Amino acid sequence: MTAIYLTGDRPTGKLHLGHFVGSLQNRVTIQTKNDTNQFIMIADQQALTDNADNPLKIQKSVKEVLLDYLAVGINPDQSTIFIQSKIPQLSELMMYYLNLVTVSRLYRNPTVKSEMKEKNFETSLPAGFLTYPVSQAADITAFKATHVPVGGDQLPMLEQTKEIVRSFNRIYNTNVLVEPEIVLPSKKQERLKGIDGQGKMSKSLNNGIYLSDDEATIKKKIMSMYTDPNHIHVNDPGQVEGNMVFEYLDIFTPDKTEVVALKEHYRNGGLGDVKIKNYLNDILQDILLPIRTERQKLESEESYLLDILKQGSLTAEKRAAETLDEVKHAMGINYF
Ligand code: TRP
Repeated sequence: MTAIYLTGDRPTGKLHLGHFVGSLQNRVTIQTKNDTNQFIMIADQQALTDNADNPLKIQKSVKEVLLDYLAVGINPDQSTIFIQSKIPQLSELMMYYLNLVTVSRLYRNPTVKSEMKEKNFETSLPAGFLTYPVSQAADITAFKATHVPVGGDQLPMLEQTKEIVRSFNRIYNTNVLVEPEIVLPSKKQERLKGIDGQGKMSKSLNNGIYLSDDEATIKKKIMSMYTDPNHIHVNDPGQVEGNMVFEYLDIFTPDKTEVVALKEHYRNGGLGDVKIKNYLNDILQDILLPIRTERQKLESEESYLLDILKQGSLTAEKRAAETLDEVKHAMGINYF
């Protein structure tokens, strides 16, 4: 049986190294697997559920996200890249699913709960935001996704999707909807911490290194990275744990024995922060240069980029339309 992978990103800005490690690299691998079909959705409608007043940001970010995808090697001939709002069947599916979910269940969704706090939605909650897990269930089921690779924060979304699938299939006595399998990141793919060491790399924390950052910006960010605040003089013994330079080296360096030696040296004292930062800088510049170069090359290719989104959206719409037909048939509302 063909495995169907579905992933999505909210287009709210450019993608960073955290996305690269956590999901983009994985998508590049998955697209070449046999018996595997990969759909990648730019979730503009979901982005609007907490950015209704800023549609321009979403519009601009669609292109940025697409450029990031292509620059890292996501191949539109091997993966279907599409825009959520271009697939009206998703909204229609959501309409039917909304009847299978209680409002109290949505309020209990842990991701919705914490995001509500974060976004100050506690006193004025957009209904579209409260119900976005149902929209996400539509995204996933429309393509009969069998595998959904997501970060741990998305577990409640997937749980909600599974509940909807079970309810639908039970109530309408059918098996048209497919329960997706959650594919969690490996230890290495877990969300990368930001350069400040405070939390996950994220736009809101302003602690990211972006795939589109230029050489000088990358270097400046690495030089400002959080290390060991007690490592004041070169000869002081330094701490490797919680030191972002070493955390990044663990993830990005191809030469693990070299890192072991550097850690040892740092712990014993005598290895300066600037030195390890320069070492990391060389490694990250090597990774990011070809990505940035490819990104710049594609930036002005407006018609090529639009064509990818058009073709991908057409392919995706065909799939979603088939599922919607089956759903309406199962519900007995396929009148003529
Ligand atoms: N909620 C996801 C995020 O914030 C994006 C997303 C939307 C998604 N629809 C999806 C992810 C369907 C996986 C499957 O990152």
